[in-house]
Amino acid sequence: MHKQYIFTAEVPSNIALIKYWGKRDAAQQWPENDSLSMTLDSARTHTSAQIAASGSDVIRRADGQGVVTAYTSSSDKAVRHLAFLRRELGFSAALEIATHNTFPTGCGIASSASGLGALTLAAIAAWTGSASLTELETADFPRERLAHLARMGSGSAGRSLFGGYVAWHAGSSPSAQRIEPLAVDWPLTDIIALVSRQEKAVGSSAGHLTVRSSPLFLPRLAGLPARLRLVEAALAAHDLPALGHAIEAEALEMHAVMLSSEPRLAYLQPRTSELLAWLRQQREEQGLAAYFTIDAGPNVHIICAPHTAPEVVQRLNTAFPDLALITDRTGQGPLLYRRPTH
Ligand code: PMV
Repeated sequence: MHKQYIFTAEVPSNIALIKYWGKRDAAQQWPENDSLSMTLDSARTHTSAQIAASGSDVIRRADGQGVVTAYTSSSDKAVRHLAFLRRELGFSAALEIATHNTFPTGCGIASSASGLGALTLAAIAAWTGSASLTELETADFPRERLAHLARMGSGSAGRSLFGGYVAWHAGSSPSAQRIEPLAVDWPLTDIIALVSRQEKAVGSSAGHLTVRSSPLFLPRLAGLPARLRLVEAALAAHDLPALGHAIEAEALEMHAVMLSSEPRLAYLQPRTSELLAWLRQQREEQGLAAYFTIDAGPNVHIICAPHTAPEVVQRLNTAFPDLALITDRTGQGPLLYRRPTH
C-alpha cells in the first residue's frame, strides 16, 4: 500500500504599510493601487491537508479552545477558494483539511491573509505530493504563482507568501500584476493594541467595492505612487521617522476614504483615537520612536525598532492597563512540510 502523507503549511499574517483598499476588477482580484506590507512572524495559520478517504472535501477549523467546526457551505471563504483552486488547476482529489491560528480567533487580527495563504499552499502540496516549497517549485508552482493563486482567495494573502517586506504591484492589466519581496533586511516590531476583539460588521470584501463612492478616493490614488516611493526609500535607508510619517498618513487616509464612502465605513473607535493621541504625545514629549498603522478595524499596530519594543509595551501597560497587547515582528515567510499519516 502507498504511504499516505499529511502536508502542513504555516503561513504568517502581514501588516500593510501601504494599504490595498479598492478593487478595479473583483472577479480577477485586480486592486486599484499598489500595496506594500511587512510579513509577520508568530501570527500564523497552520493548515494540514491530505487526500480524503471519502469523495468530498472537509475543512475543519479549531478555535484554540478545543472547539472544532467543520465547514462545507460556500458562504465560507475557504470552501469557495478550494473550489476555485480545483477548477483553476484541474485537480480532482477530495481533501481533508484541518486548520488553526496561532493567534486567538476573533481577537480582531485579520486571519484571511494567513488563512487563505495556508490553504493554497497545503492544498496544492497535497495534490502534487510536494514535501517542501522547493518541491512545489519543481512541480511548476514557483512562489509568485502560488502568491497569485492565494491572492484570488484574499488579496492580502498573496503578500503573505513571501517573508520580509513585500510589494504587490497592480500593473496595467489584471494579468500584469506582480507580487515580489523587496531586498530589505530590517527587522521591526509590531505591537498590536487590541481595542476590540469583535468581528467587524462590514468585511473588507464589501468595503473594497465602495471606494469610488468616496470623493477622497481619486485624490488618494493620485498621491499613492509618491508615498510608495517614500516608503520604499525609507525601508532601504532604515529610516524609521520617514517610514513612520508615511505609514501614519497612509492609515489615516485609508480611514478617511472609508468614512467618506457610501455606505459609510466607520472602523475607528474612541479608544483608537485615544491611543493615537497618546502615541503622538509620547513621541513629541518623550522622544519615543514608535509609529502607528491601522487596518480595516479599530486595533492599533505600533511599529518600532526591536530594542524600543519593551519600553513601548511598558508605557502602554501603564497608560492603558486594560488593553491586551500582541507583540510580533518581521518574519521570514511560509513553511511547508509533510509527515506520514501513521
Ligand atoms: O485581503 P483583504 O480583501 O482582506 O483586504 C485587506 C485590506 C487591508 O487589510 C485593509 C489592507 C491591506 O493591504 O492588507
